[in-house]
Amino acid sequence: MKTLVYKVERWNPEPNIIDEAAQAIRSGKLVAFPTETVYGLGANGLDDVAVRSIFAAKGRPADNPLILHFASPDAVDNVAYVNERARLLMDVFWPGPLTLVLPVKPIVPHSVTAGLETVAVRMPSHPVAMALIKAAGVPIAAPSANKSGRPSPTEAASVLSDIGDGVDIILDGGATDVGLESTVIDVTGPSVVLLRAGGMPVERIEEVVGDVVLVPGEAKKKRSPGTRYRHYAPLVPLLLWKDDSIWQSKDVSGKKIGYIGIKEPPVTVPEKIIFKSPEYYAHGLFAAFRTLEKKDIDIIVAEWPERVGIGLALRDRLCRAAGQE
Ligand code: TXA
Ligand code: MG
Repeated sequence: MKTLVYKVERWNPEPNIIDEAAQAIRSGKLVAFPTETVYGLGANGLDDVAVRSIFAAKGRPADNPLILHFASPDAVDNVAYVNERARLLMDVFWPGPLTLVLPVKPIVPHSVTAGLETVAVRMPSHPVAMALIKAAGVPIAAPSANKSGRPSPTEAASVLSDIGDGVDIILDGGATDVGLESTVIDVTGPSVVLLRAGGMPVERIEEVVGDVVLVPGEAKKKRSPGTRYRHYAPLVPLLLWKDDSIWQSKDVSGKKIGYIGIKEPPVTVPEKIIFKSPEYYAHGLFAAFRTLEKKDIDIIVAEWPERVGIGLALRDRLCRAAGQE
């Protein structure tokens, strides 16, 4: 089977293309589509067989649950028990890069939740994602559309090179906006718990619901299955510039370096990608990994960003891409 790749107009997606993709979703096929965060690999979230084919196409471990995507907050009531606080967060932040973990209703297949008693839900703001979900008329289960372990795709070409003919249709809506995945929070208990830092800064969530609890290391692996696995890794080793001594270390000195960051590196390097701000760093991080790994370099060195705003999510992705906790 050959993958169909359609270019779509971001602000005004062509109805005939959206209808074809929505029909594919309803008939159990896989459609990759842009969201404001990264590209998703979507299937009918209520169709167990279709959802399993997502795991096969990505090579994803079956114990890592998926996010269900909706075109309106009201539609979530079919799949989850929505409490007051979740309702408030939806009002303020949806559509947008915030995923809520809620108690699941029996209609959702176990393949989506990995057998957990909760389900992750979000309403993306990208017009192509919205149009597709609306036209499909079902929640769309979608992980990031990369091969398991690779950087998430922020462009359609990365979906094609990772998933190839494992996906039926790719909607190419250009580069995504945020560049990192959504923030995932658990809102089932007495306090709001951060499971994955992401596109929605924690500081903004705290303005609405007060303190958000950050769970450390081992406890997090239990609550947020995705954090158990090495993820986001480029094909060449990644080192983090946290401390200036790194530049004299044996892992770096004398090596052909590809550099990414906001500051200029203190040494001359053969390849570098400099970003204007933390937001641009987030937007371009995964694409930079994919660009640099194709160049003639031995290692990538990445600047360690400040911990504020999008910086928390950047730090998380950098650590995991570098194989550090
Ligand atoms: O921005 C995004 O969130 C993108 C776009 C496509 O929407 N999707 C995405 O999906 O990043 P994925 O599958 O790559 O990451 C989903 C994360 C994983 O860390 C997973 O473990 C967690 O959400 N998750 C999903 N369901 C969960 C649940 N019921 N409880 C706890 N964590 C859950
Ligand atoms: Mg992912």
